[in-house]
Amino acid sequence: MIAKETVDKILETAQIEEVVGDFVQLKKRGTSLIGNCPFHNEKTPSFHVSVSKGIYKCFGCGKGGDSVRFVMDHEKYSYPEALKYLANKYRIEIEETEQSPEQLIADSRRESLFIVSAWAGKFFQQAMWETEEGKSIGLSYFKERGFRDDIIKKFELGYSPDGWAAMTDKAIAEGHKEEFLEATGLAIRNDKGKLYDRFRGRVMFPINNFTGRLIGFGGRTLKTDKNVPKYVNSPESDIYHKSNVLYGLFHAKKAIRDEDNCYLVEGYADVLSVHQAGIENVVASSGTSLTIEQIRLIGRFTKNITILYDGDAAGIKASLRGLDMILEEGLNVKVVLFPDGHDPDSYAMLVGSSAFKTYIEQKRQDFILYKTTMLLKDAGTDPIKRSGVIREVVESIAKIPDSIKASVFVRECSSLMQIEERVLISELNKMRLAKQKKESSTPAPLPPPDGFYETPLEGDASSSPDEAQEKEIIRLLLTYGHQLVNWDEITDTYIAPYMLTNLSDVEFDHPQSKQILEEYKTRMEKGELPTEQDFIKHPDATISELAISLISSPYVLSDNWYAKRKIYVKNETENLRATILGGIFHLKKRKVDHILKNIRTEIQTETDADNQAILMQRYLRVKEVEKGISSFLGSVIVK
Ligand code: CTP
Ligand code: MN
Repeated sequence: MIAKETVDKILETAQIEEVVGDFVQLKKRGTSLIGNCPFHNEKTPSFHVSVSKGIYKCFGCGKGGDSVRFVMDHEKYSYPEALKYLANKYRIEIEETEQSPEQLIADSRRESLFIVSAWAGKFFQQAMWETEEGKSIGLSYFKERGFRDDIIKKFELGYSPDGWAAMTDKAIAEGHKEEFLEATGLAIRNDKGKLYDRFRGRVMFPINNFTGRLIGFGGRTLKTDKNVPKYVNSPESDIYHKSNVLYGLFHAKKAIRDEDNCYLVEGYADVLSVHQAGIENVVASSGTSLTIEQIRLIGRFTKNITILYDGDAAGIKASLRGLDMILEEGLNVKVVLFPDGHDPDSYAMLVGSSAFKTYIEQKRQDFILYKTTMLLKDAGTDPIKRSGVIREVVESIAKIPDSIKASVFVRECSSLMQIEERVLISELNKMRLAKQKKESSTPAPLPPPDGFYETPLEGDASSSPDEAQEKEIIRLLLTYGHQLVNWDEITDTYIAPYMLTNLSDVEFDHPQSKQILEEYKTRMEKGELPTEQDFIKHPDATISELAISLISSPYVLSDNWYAKRKIYVKNETENLRATILGGIFHLKKRKVDHILKNIRTEIQTETDADNQAILMQRYLRVKEVEKGISSFLGSVIVK
């Protein structure tokens, strides 16, 4: 863990305009700085930076945050990674604390694995560029395949000499420990207990994680002997987890974001060739089938994946099902097929950059439509096979979380298959229902604590029907909570405890609003008074996003509550007490209305007369509460 003092120092030192300014050209306008948003495509700037508040906010796409959030979002770093980036930028020394001895050992061990891997990367490069063997065997191999020097250097390709333990011996002579050479898999121990090189006489492709650290290698043989494995790869280690690494991502991430698309290929050579052809947004799954972690990793940068397939039909068919996983993650999938016998590397080398680019542009097809056409072709006129196709296609569509997107596919596929849309829709609904059933058979969450608002609200349990009202309360709490007021004309009090007291019988539903409220309460109970900055800088991204959007937009409440009272809102600070009580009681009124509505439905569906009477009693009691709230609201507003 990075010490709290260090975190504070980083947050204090980092200047939002400097941090953002490294990536976005900012111009002064009024009290804020503006520029073109780096998170979405725009021609007129809607990206605002407030120097005094230390935050940015895009009024186009809604992204906002502080310095740390910006680095996390822009570079796709985790919270600690972003802090480290800022510490490095401002030359702040990072102090780490509170680590258990085990954690310290684990961390320094991981660090040692990074160090020995980086060292080996350098060693293989030197062995290729600076030794006779390397130049005549390794380098000339890459050149013969058509790779340019700049690409060979950029991807830090190398050569591992064809000795028994050339690398291992050098490493040990330079003070690297056997333990780490073994743990990274760079060296292997034989039966006699002696270490030897895993990669011998192979050209080396270093594998980086997406922050650029070397974590493993792929080594290709130069032999054509079928008995020799073409590639030998580093084994899994504490720093190399194959399932969440994509080859080339470090070099591709900027282009992926700029192009808002990620090309996915199979092999190391494909990444290099496509990159060399001028298409830099390309990564490889490196031979293994795509994992959910890899999809999510891409999803951090773009929602669009284009898969460049080797031109062998069997392989494509086998992978069709795997692609549903990408749809399930909400990403859009396109596919490009290459002529039989070609992979992206061989095809790019064959036709050259510009023809390759044109090919990709022209041949890209949407995955679902491609799948439909291909399966239809296979099924021919056989009615049973055709109904199987319908099921398979609908299965894919059912995976798409966005229902609007799904309905577009329903339309397109229905015309491709010449089937009425409603047939597909009914199939789709059946599938969704089955899925819901499966999910709801998992144990239900614990019921809320007993209390006045125990009755479930309208709609399904996960929705927050009062989201706007709850957010409005949070906005008021964050904006005015630490202001001192003297409303009873006897004692000065902060607005926050006043609000919390008035909210004590209200249960929030919107998860982030609820969390902010809870954290606010907890901290007040400890005698602290949180500020908006505490939530702006919150380590939980969803919390800080909410805090920022609430603070930077004048009001969230969009229903007629405020529309009807425009003047009143404009002067919210003039009669703060009315604003705050108005907000709170408006929420209370809604909560009570939900309850009343639920009781009404219950009464209607209840067949037992006694039970009906009990419900009726209950209804009247709640109705009394509702009247009280309404009349209070009336009096507050009139004031
Ligand atoms: N692969 C592997 N081990 C093998 C074969 C393949 O790890 N024995 C992985 C490598 O990451 C390789 C990818 O699968 O890049 C794709 O394999 P393949 O298409 O056979 O290799 P290419 O990348 O086309 O390699 P080359 O062009 O050098 O033949
Ligand atoms: Mn190849």
